[in-house]
Amino acid sequence: MNQIKKRAAQVLKEKLDSLCPDHALGINDIAGMFEYPPDPKLGDLAFPCFKLAKVMRIAPPKIAASIADGLSVDGISKIDVVGGYLNMFTDKLYVAAATVNTILEKKETYGANGEGIGKTVVLDYSSPNVAKPFHIGHLGTTIIGHSLKKLHEFCGYNCIGINHLGDWGTQFGKLIVAFRKWGSRDEIEEGGIDALVALYVKFHKEAETDGALNDEARAAFTALEHHDEECTALWKWFIDISLREYEKTYKQLGITFDSYNGESFYTDKMPAVVEEMRQKNLMVIDDGASIVDLSDYNMPPCLILKRDGSTLYPTRDIAAALYRKNTYHFDKCIYVTSAGQSLHFAQWFKVLELMGYEWAKDQLIHVPYGTVSIDGEKLSTRSGNVVLLRDLFAQAIEKVAAIMEEKNPDLPGKDAIAESVGVGAIIFYYLSANRIRDINFIMEDALSFEGNTGPYAQYTYARTCSILSKASASGIGPIDAPVNTDGISLCDEENDLIKTLALFPDKVTQALHECEPSVITRYILDVCADFNRFYHNIQILSCDDEALRTFRVKLTASANYVLASAFDLICVGKNEKI
Ligand code: ARG
Repeated sequence: MNQIKKRAAQVLKEKLDSLCPDHALGINDIAGMFEYPPDPKLGDLAFPCFKLAKVMRIAPPKIAASIADGLSVDGISKIDVVGGYLNMFTDKLYVAAATVNTILEKKETYGANGEGIGKTVVLDYSSPNVAKPFHIGHLGTTIIGHSLKKLHEFCGYNCIGINHLGDWGTQFGKLIVAFRKWGSRDEIEEGGIDALVALYVKFHKEAETDGALNDEARAAFTALEHHDEECTALWKWFIDISLREYEKTYKQLGITFDSYNGESFYTDKMPAVVEEMRQKNLMVIDDGASIVDLSDYNMPPCLILKRDGSTLYPTRDIAAALYRKNTYHFDKCIYVTSAGQSLHFAQWFKVLELMGYEWAKDQLIHVPYGTVSIDGEKLSTRSGNVVLLRDLFAQAIEKVAAIMEEKNPDLPGKDAIAESVGVGAIIFYYLSANRIRDINFIMEDALSFEGNTGPYAQYTYARTCSILSKASASGIGPIDAPVNTDGISLCDEENDLIKTLALFPDKVTQALHECEPSVITRYILDVCADFNRFYHNIQILSCDDEALRTFRVKLTASANYVLASAFDLICVGKNEKI
């Protein structure tokens, strides 16, 4: 569709140049103006003339009529003027050949728009608070963040994924004290993060009756800030134990980071930043604390230093943004967190702007998401009410394994496949809704092999793989060689699938610009629905007509490429067999 849009834009521009030399629209502007009519009966592409009415001072329907007069575009079989629109009907065979051949030629790069070539984007995501459990609340930042990284990489950006670990703060003083009093090295080495959480919980319980504990914890944190050897060693060890746990989950999700520079990394970088704010006369003292007043921007003040002079979460973020700008020279820096932190980001973005960093206005982007709750079956966890990610995944994998055992007990490598399908089901379900919506997680729904789920989509992908391997075995090939549509006629099932496959580049661009992976997830479901209708209603390998059979196999290959790329973009694994 993009090719046709470009060609139509070229022809429209020539026509506009003659009708209205002052229109000032380039080919890309015109191509960007096309819309998709809501009802396919109205056409496949529509060009609105309302914008032009302002320059030409003529009513849009009249403009549409004069543009349409004598207009002819390769690949467009009919043009209707309806209101202020030119409604265009594409030549189905032309679109079929153009779409399939573009996909077969570009393969896994089909759909990528190249807008990021030469640009760098930093993505700050996952970023759990060390020594606290990795729970379902972290699912959003982790997979939305990683999917955004994939989308940016796909479109040519140089991407830096940063896990901004919450590895600094008074909670480490508490842990150090709790460990000294009640902990044992062996227990923690063995129990991992659960043992650390248990110590933390015990500290809070004991502190309710023993007021001195909090003072001890503060003193321990101060010692840590002053590089006390023993405290530093303990702190490093706590981080190590936590990371070991996080890594297991990242591995299951196929996620790696380029940097684990967390909050502590910025401790020695903050004094200079605070000094800069002071010199720029941004800070005022309020009840002993140092703040930046943001009342002119309808926001509460941004807290920079506590009364005791220690730094805060926003201080560390400001220092981190400056460090990243100087280190990576990013064109965009994206932060993925729950919507509960929106004010925090708006505040410190504004502080950077007030410091004179113009780039903070449009290069720092906060991507918020809604809350997650779990309904239906209760997940058992050893850590109270929170649902741990590892428990969620383990349960999904177990259930998928049971379904597969029933459906396909002889499948080779079924453990690895159950893991990929189970984890993929959770991701797919989570990324189906707009990120800002609050999600109610229903395990049964996520894991079902029927309905709009990950397993269903993966099953459809496996179906394309199976058709392609049978096709190769029966001598159809090479499958990626260009197709010829001369002399064949296509049915609705084929045309619908082609039309959907042709939309992939638009969907990628939309998902990228809106930072919205769910655009891709829902698109996968459209491809699956069209492909399954095509598969059920039409003969592919058993078709008698050789030209049609070859075309249908190539169409299957095109769906296979698009699904594979789309799965990759939302971090869902793909399996040739399920
Ligand atoms: N550690 C924080 C939390 O768990 C999220 C950090 C997000 N990134 C940032 N640069 N502030 O809430």
